[in-house]
Amino acid sequence: MDKLIIEGGVKLKGEVTVSGAKNAVLPILAATLLTDEPCVIKGVPNLRDTHSMLKILRPLGKIAEFDKGRVSVTAGKAPNYIAEYKLVSTMRASFCVLGPLLGKLKKAKVSLPGGCVIGVRPVDLHLKGIRALGADISIDSGYVIAKTNKLHGAYIYLGGVYGSSVLATDNVMMAAVLAGGKTIIESAACEPEVVDLAEFLIKMGAKIKGHGTPVIEIEGVKHLHGAVHSIIPDRIEAGTLILASLITGGDVLIKNVQYRHLGALIDKLDEAGAHLERVGAALRVKGNKKLRSVNITTLPYPGFPTDMQAQMMSLMSVTGGISVITEKIYPDRFMHVAELNRMGAHIQREGPHAIVEGIKSLSGAPVMASDLRASAGLVLAGLAARGATSISRIYHLERGYEFIEKKLINLGAKVWREKE
Ligand code: UD1
Repeated sequence: MDKLIIEGGVKLKGEVTVSGAKNAVLPILAATLLTDEPCVIKGVPNLRDTHSMLKILRPLGKIAEFDKGRVSVTAGKAPNYIAEYKLVSTMRASFCVLGPLLGKLKKAKVSLPGGCVIGVRPVDLHLKGIRALGADISIDSGYVIAKTNKLHGAYIYLGGVYGSSVLATDNVMMAAVLAGGKTIIESAACEPEVVDLAEFLIKMGAKIKGHGTPVIEIEGVKHLHGAVHSIIPDRIEAGTLILASLITGGDVLIKNVQYRHLGALIDKLDEAGAHLERVGAALRVKGNKKLRSVNITTLPYPGFPTDMQAQMMSLMSVTGGISVITEKIYPDRFMHVAELNRMGAHIQREGPHAIVEGIKSLSGAPVMASDLRASAGLVLAGLAARGATSISRIYHLERGYEFIEKKLINLGAKVWREKE
């Protein structure tokens, strides 16, 4: 296993390009199961999670090749309907093969993904929606077994205790596109990645309206065909790079940014007094201003993303004043608090809140990454800290940030990898 060493205190400077969105590409790859015709996906980030999804598609009967950001998926041997535990357990997003397998083959056996370090992460909403479409569902030996003679359209309320669910919306939408009649998903997730999936399905011949709003309408069709699609830029990577520039007092031009996808973050940074300049499809971020602390509450899109919470906490830990960070999507997603405190941060957790008392500077320390976004938060803290920070279990970062070390090094950061 590798660890990442960061010698902090360098102001990041230069240009960097955001990669394709991880959370868009994973369900879009799953959606290729809905057709036997070839699909081509462009702008695909070279991530551990991307390759995990390709590994899941292959035993399901697909020939899936990755070449320089382009994935081609074609039908191989006879399709299979079983997604094994050893593959599904590596990545939760792989559970979204359930909807397309059921839609196309009328049967699916998909391992339950299990919880993870950020919380319990149930799949009740996925199953509720798919059941409503006429599937018979049972759970046996850790697998969801779903069967149907024919899926039919239905009215489905998909809100849960924590609001809408991204992957449940994806799963149900993918099952409904080949169902007979009309499906209405109410309290659907509005995330840009759900919209990107819907756009891909529409290119395949699906009839979908309302994606990007809480009410999605799907008119089932008999057949979907192959399609070519380019993935939207990753808003979480863009947000992480924005904070990297701010926390180091840098001056970075971030290219390939969908400004509209970053509303809640940009609004908070505006409130904090940050200087962000929009330059076409790029954003220039100058970290030369003293920031004010701000309070954050994570919410489903278009609210502040939970996937930016750890990174924002790192910024607030070196911003004067008190910031209250409230996590409303995953109330236990605070594994990074103890690690930031090891670097000298003053953060106290109280239930779903973290109270951050900003200090002048952090000091480098050995810390451990617990999950993908926590790792990103620790990288930001390391970039800003005095001295060296070593982050172990850095494989988490590779799940979601394409060429991140290279990108940071190009911006002047002193970052390298060592064996643990
Ligand atoms: C997706 C993202 C992840 C992000 C999360 C929230 C992908 C691949 N991953 O994960 O990066 O952090 O959205 O924005 O897109 N819930 C239930 N029952 C369910 C499903 C979810 O109670 O059946 C709960 C979850 O435990 C959580 C909340 O709903 O508290 C939102 O989770 P959800 O939107 O489903 O997250 P994912 O789609 O798994």
